[in-house]
Amino acid sequence: MKEKTFVMLKPDAVKRKLIGRIIQRFEDKGLEIIEMKMLTISRKLAEKHYEEHKDKDFFESLVEFITSGKVVAMVVEGERAVSVVRKMIGKTNPLEADVGTIRGDFGFSTPDNLIHASDSEDSAKREIDLFF
Ligand code: CMP
Repeated sequence: MKEKTFVMLKPDAVKRKLIGRIIQRFEDKGLEIIEMKMLTISRKLAEKHYEEHKDKDFFESLVEFITSGKVVAMVVEGERAVSVVRKMIGKTNPLEADVGTIRGDFGFSTPDNLIHASDSEDSAKREIDLFF
């Protein structure tokens, strides 16, 4: 079954000029980019997108980071896209992410861990509606 998932390249990925290399991985895998745009997220959108983390101690630094520069938002489609993309991006903490994953290969800290992807089909629907 084809699924859609929401993917966002964070300000650190854009600043480090990794957009092309990251998107290449999704295309190489056989996934399709069906929507894409570059934008600077407002504080309001950031707080809504990350509302499940609003009580965490890192919430404020996360919102500040994600609004600190341009991001690339996209909708990625493919067979079991939600779990396939999560596998490709790796664990939240890049120091624990497996080599071969995007965070494992390019990242070294949080919250600047390069990329976000929806963790379920429900989150994907919610996040796609927020951004597109
Ligand atoms: P993301 O997959 O976008 O979802 C929530 C984000 O919060 C996560 O990636 C990180 O950028 C950030 N995050 C998660 N855990 C921590 C943490 N312990 N300290 C700082 N930022 C974090």
